[in-house]
Amino acid sequence: MSDIVAADAIILVGGQGTRLRPLTLSAPKPMLPTAGVPFLQHLLARIAEAGIKRVILGTAYKAEVFSDYFGDGSEFGLEIVYVQETEPMGTGGGIRNVLSKIQSDNVMIFNGDVLSGADLKAIYQTHIDNDADVTLHLVRVSDPRAFGCVPTDMDGRVTAFLEKTEDPPTDQINAGCYVFKKKVVEAIPSGRPVSVEREVFPGLLRDGSRVYGHVDMAYWKDMGTPDDFVQGSSDLVRGIAPSPVLNGHRGDSLVHPGAGVAPGAWLLGGTVVGRGAEVAAGARLDGAILFDGAKVEAGARIERSIIGAGAIVGPRALIRDAVIGDGAHVGARCEFLRGARIWPGVVIPDNGVRFSTDV
Ligand code: GTP
Repeated sequence: MSDIVAADAIILVGGQGTRLRPLTLSAPKPMLPTAGVPFLQHLLARIAEAGIKRVILGTAYKAEVFSDYFGDGSEFGLEIVYVQETEPMGTGGGIRNVLSKIQSDNVMIFNGDVLSGADLKAIYQTHIDNDADVTLHLVRVSDPRAFGCVPTDMDGRVTAFLEKTEDPPTDQINAGCYVFKKKVVEAIPSGRPVSVEREVFPGLLRDGSRVYGHVDMAYWKDMGTPDDFVQGSSDLVRGIAPSPVLNGHRGDSLVHPGAGVAPGAWLLGGTVVGRGAEVAAGARLDGAILFDGAKVEAGARIERSIIGAGAIVGPRALIRDAVIGDGAHVGARCEFLRGARIWPGVVIPDNGVRFSTDV
């Protein structure tokens, strides 16, 4: 049977998420709260919606956080199986490590940190129609230099894999979602770290395997950096990024039950206010993410930034393009700008100091 319903899914969730530190010190990246639920829940809902029944999670970093939340998957309409790496095996090694759990001839594989509206059934169908060994979901981006570029020929067959290059020959990039024949997983070397992007894909091209691309124009965002995480979350809240979990929610903000927003506070640009969080009068939040229990005091301004669980932003502070770690305390009138990150629990006194580096 070639229907996607017969395919298992593998999701790679074992990365350390270093670019999202300090938030990923307490939770793995796919479990960070995103528009009301752990990020991974949006992806699992899309997988279930496409008809896939069985998901194998390849874990390494903070593995227990996933099973504690998702359990056997039944609550989410799926069967979820966990395979934990003793050492991080990289993306290819992570795929090889779950081989014994694969029950289907073709598997759909996902990076666990991509927000996308791609039609999974269409990607799978491209794979079957081409009798491909591997099919990659490719998206077109305006600046492909920071990504893995994947040119294809007239028939959609992949001609090269070019990791981050200054002069990309195509705007098609690897979107972090693939269909593999099971035999391709079997051929990945075991027992050592392997990169699917740098080792497996170039190797398949060298040995003449049938590697195809499926290009579409769907919404796509890799949530790996604070800027992208903030943008993706805002897109979910505003209904620009689709998610079955949000049931068509569309608005300038998402305020969780139990959060307190004072009259006279402004919430704009897809701002999220987590459970038990508080926003005082005169505060202005534009594209902000407040994790659970965070507190924003009167007159503070937060733009395109993430405020960790239980963190406090003091009166008239300004946080712009920054990340405030869990439980940190930013004093009154301080300014944190352009990529500044405050580590969990750090207390910055009321002094109006301006920082644009890590503290
Ligand atoms: P950075 O440290 O910020 O680069 O993030 P990351 O560790 O998540 O790495 P990257 O964004 O390149 O990973 C892409 C996807 O592969 C993510 O969903 C990761 O969770 C996953 N991943 C990365 N390395 C491993 C690994 O060693 N094992 C497993 N199972 N998954 C991995």
